[in-house]
Amino acid sequence: MIIVPIQTAQGDYQVMIERGIAARLGEIVRAEFGSPRIMIFTDSTVDELYGRTVQAGLRAANLDVSRFVFPAGEAYKTFRTVESALEILAEERFDRGDLILALGGGVSGDLAGFTASIYRRGIRFIQVPTTLLAAVDSSVGGKTAVDLPQGKNLAGTFWQPSAVYCDPDTFRTLPPQRIADGYAEIIKHGFIADEDYLIHLEKLPCWEDSLETTIERSIRIKAAFVAADTLDRNERRKLNFGHTFGHAIETVTGFAVSHGAAVAIGMVMASRLADRLGIAEVSLTERLEALLRKYGLPTEFAGGGGGSETFARAAANDKKSGAGKITFVLPVRAGEVRLTPFDIADLQKIFALAAE
Ligand code: NAD
Ligand code: GLY
Repeated sequence: MIIVPIQTAQGDYQVMIERGIAARLGEIVRAEFGSPRIMIFTDSTVDELYGRTVQAGLRAANLDVSRFVFPAGEAYKTFRTVESALEILAEERFDRGDLILALGGGVSGDLAGFTASIYRRGIRFIQVPTTLLAAVDSSVGGKTAVDLPQGKNLAGTFWQPSAVYCDPDTFRTLPPQRIADGYAEIIKHGFIADEDYLIHLEKLPCWEDSLETTIERSIRIKAAFVAADTLDRNERRKLNFGHTFGHAIETVTGFAVSHGAAVAIGMVMASRLADRLGIAEVSLTERLEALLRKYGLPTEFAGGGGGSETFARAAANDKKSGAGKITFVLPVRAGEVRLTPFDIADLQKIFALAAE
């Protein structure tokens, strides 16, 4: 088993990475948490694949387990889903000693974490990521969220999981596009912090090679940002490389473009913008594009949703905006990015420049 310690301003925990761990959660939860009641919080697709197996494993350890299942998809990352879960928790009289188990991708994790953070002013939750993206990114660091009609992730909390159990065997049922989504965040980690990691990714013959090591390296990079700045005031914001453009693409297209694909395109746009401004090292964008293509990710927005004005309006609502400014994460060289504020009034120009 690979264990990665996570230190945060809100408490420490561990990520445990092991094939088959999802089926062994009964004994692990008993040893770590005693005998809490457990609500498995998952979406309809993951429930079909793993819900009953995980529930059976927990029940075999004599734990009292129920399942809350919502329809799969970003469209359900809403207050309405959280409200339904809260009502069931209250109906079933869950208390502060009990546990929510987030089983699924980033949507399940963000929703379950948000629900855990506000039910009875906070109960414990654990993350069992079943997408590569959730394993290397969203299950670690305690950002929880729901989307609002006005923009993505506009409501949420910082609430750390008590533990993360990552079973890479669950990624076998992911379609190739979902694996690629995970690599968007993995490549992001290399670009913002570690050129050696980028070289490793450039050399890997196939995505399955040394997957556990890749997951571990990514989590360690993310963990360093989270430890330095848990509440996202400064350094942690570098993890948003590609996200301001990416969130605008997701919002404008009504989530027809997946989060990973949007981040991939967003990173290229940020890199082009850095190029145009003379900030980025020569051929950095080409290097980024080649790596994204290698892992099956798009590098260009295929169109739809409107022109730079529509995108600028969507980005103006981004969480990273305030006092008339919006902060972009721009690459300088492989392994180094810079937080760069721009006037919101210039957003349309910025989008046009980055799209050229
Ligand atoms: P997701 O949770 O919607 O999962 C993608 C799809 O894969 C869903 O349809 C899901 O049902 C399916 N799926 C999940 N596991 C599967 C499996 N093992 N086999 C087959 N299908 C499976 O989305 P995601 O891509 O995992 O995560 C994206 C979300 O995460 C976005 O909402 C994004 O904002 C959020 N996010 C949050 C953070 C954070 O720090 N909290 C970081 C990055 C992304
Ligand atoms: N995914 C960005 C963060 O966790 O800060």
